[in-house]
This record gives sequence, C-alpha cells and structure tokens, in this order.
Amino acid sequence: MKKTRTQVAIIGAGPSGLLLGQLLHRAGIDTIILEQRSKDYVLGRIRAGVLEQGAVALLEEAGCGARMRQEGLVHEGIEIAFRGVRHRIDFKALTGKTVLVYGQTEVTRDLMEARETAGAPIVYEALNASISDIETNRPRVRYSKDDVEYEIECDYVAGCDGFHGVSRQTIPEDAMRTYERVYPFGWLGILVDKTPLSDELIYVNHPRGFALCSMRSATRSRYYLQCRLDEEVSDWPDEKFWDELGRRLDSEALKQLQKGPSIEKSIAPLRSFVAEPMRFGNLFLVGDAAHIVPPTGAKGLNLAASDVAYLSRALIARYGSNSMAGLDAYPQRALARVWKAERFSWWMTQILHRFPEPSGFDEQIQAAELEYLFSSKAAQTALAENYVGLPY
Ligand code: PHB
Repeated sequence: MKKTRTQVAIIGAGPSGLLLGQLLHRAGIDTIILEQRSKDYVLGRIRAGVLEQGAVALLEEAGCGARMRQEGLVHEGIEIAFRGVRHRIDFKALTGKTVLVYGQTEVTRDLMEARETAGAPIVYEALNASISDIETNRPRVRYSKDDVEYEIECDYVAGCDGFHGVSRQTIPEDAMRTYERVYPFGWLGILVDKTPLSDELIYVNHPRGFALCSMRSATRSRYYLQCRLDEEVSDWPDEKFWDELGRRLDSEALKQLQKGPSIEKSIAPLRSFVAEPMRFGNLFLVGDAAHIVPPTGAKGLNLAASDVAYLSRALIARYGSNSMAGLDAYPQRALARVWKAERFSWWMTQILHRFPEPSGFDEQIQAAELEYLFSSKAAQTALAENYVGLPY
C-alpha cells in the first residue's frame, strides 16, 4: 500500500471537483483529485450548456475564463412557444442580467488544462475508491490504480463524484434523509454541427410533448424531445427525430431548422433529488453527489458551482485564519440555495411538459399558468431572476 498525504482529497474530476481543486490550488491549499474514469470519457459526456453569471465569475476567479469569454455566447433572454405562438422572456430588461452559453464539456476541458498547467495531481482511472475515518481528523481515501493500492490521508474529503458516486454512499443511512421526484418521461437529445435555428433558446410546450432548441456555439446545435421512459436511442434514427421535432415547432422555426447527421444522441430520465445533510464529519458533498435537478432551466452545473463557491471560501478561511464558521455553515448555506433551484427546475418542468393525466385538470392549470406568465411582468421577472441565477 502506497501512502500519501494531502489537505483536501477531491473525489471526481467533473466540473465541480476540478473547479474546487483549482480555487483551492490558487489559495495554496494542497489537493489530490481522484477520478474513476479516463480523461477522454469525462470529456465525452455531453451535458449542460448554460452558465449563470455566478458560475462565470467563479470560473474567472479560478483563472479559467479566457476561452469562455471569447467563445461563449451571451444570451439576454429565452423564448417559450405555446399554442403556436412564441413569447420572449427578456432577462436583460427584467433583471439587468444575462446568461452565457458555453458547454460543460468546454468548461471541463479548460479546468483540466489549468490543473495540468499548475502541475497539481489528478489521478484518472482510480478504481474502487473508498472513504473511511470521516468522523475523525484524519479521513482516508483508498483506491487502486494499475493493480497498486493507494491510501491518501487528508483533513477533508470533497465528494464531487456525482449521483452514483461513492461519497454519498459513505454517509450512514440513518444519518441521511433523501427527497425524490421521478418524472414520467425523459429527454432525447441530439447534437449536430449545424447553425442553431434561432439566436436564443426556444422552449416548446406542444400537445405531442416538450421540445427544446438549444446550442453549444454558433455552429453547433443541441435539440431535445420529451420521450417515453421505455424508449431507447435505437428507436430514434435521425430522420425520425427531425420529423418529430418538426411537428412540435412553429412554422417560422421549422423554416430555419438545419438538419444534419447527429454527432451524439442520448436519452436522460428526469429526476429531482436532494440528500441532506451535505456534510458528515469531514466529508462534504458537492453538486450531483447531493442533488439532482431535471434539466429544464439548466440549473445542474450552476448549482454545483454555487456549492463549490461556498465550500472553497469555507476551506480557504479554515486554512487562512483557522476559522471553522464557513465549514460549519456549508450544509445550510448550500441547501438553502439548492432547494430554490429544485423548486425552479420542478416548476419549469411542470409548465413545459405533457404529463399523462386522465381528467385534464392539470392541463388546464398548466395553460392558465403559461397565459399568466405571458401576460404578467411580475411572473416573467420571477422566471428571469431564477433563470439568470439567484445570488450567492
Ligand atoms: C442544453 O443546451 O443542454 C440545455 C439548455 C437549456 C436547458 C437544458 C439543457 O434548460
């Protein structure tokens, strides 16, 4: 067994683990990042694409803002299509704020590069990670790599290893409470190297189901369709996807749609999930390890970023001035913001999808909710201030 020591062991090299690692590294705090997968696997995952200003600021603070600032697309609003009419929600006018379209894959790439430039340790394909002694001042993380066993002794463990990771599973069941909602549909997404059909994102509520026209850049589009949970990617050849998307779009949008061969296609189920507390002993949960939001509203990555902001500041205060206050406050601070984003993502999901429901009551309520939204500046402001991101 090879033994090493660090101050903060970070499990997971997705955007939250990498961002935390970078902020701590710049503050002179020692970290090791462990990642179960290979670098290429992590970079191959197609995820979110919309950054709140808080996430943008944090990436800049981490010294990873240059390419994002150059290539990211500033969006001042979104459109919501209902009953064949598009309605614009003007974030800039309503809140003074905007969002930035810049793919999670690119964020991850920039952060990986920064870590490599810094020469800070990151171990890919670290297998069988296990965390122990988290209720002591000397937590340990064990893993194996190339058939060699390793043990890291540390002060704190940051669990940034996602919903299926080992971190949350390390917390004893009787010390944890979980909350969950599973939605009766999924999102079928495709990525295509074609000009997006519009300059802004279009969220579509259609009798055949939800659709979303999104993008990753001026030349790369991302489209989604609400699909059934029993459907598989192989049920959806490109032609069928384009046909179905065409049925859900208004004629103006359809005219602008540029079809092409998909370069990625996947189905994701929709789920809301929160695990409390986000701290157990000296283990801290960050991002998807503690909470999942349905993608409607693009809050997943942004919520991971606000967790990282709270935790990095707390750790910097702990090592800088030996103050424990930030670490003690982390679970409440993070969760207060998590639940607001959970509410917003649930609400966006609720108003935009078609739910199987026999009586038709929910459908009428949904229509009333949307008509109210389109006619009320107050309602639009509430959507806008959540979409651009609540403060942290
Ligand atoms: C995406 O581009 O992947 C995306 C954008 C906005 C959302 C969800 C997903 O609300």
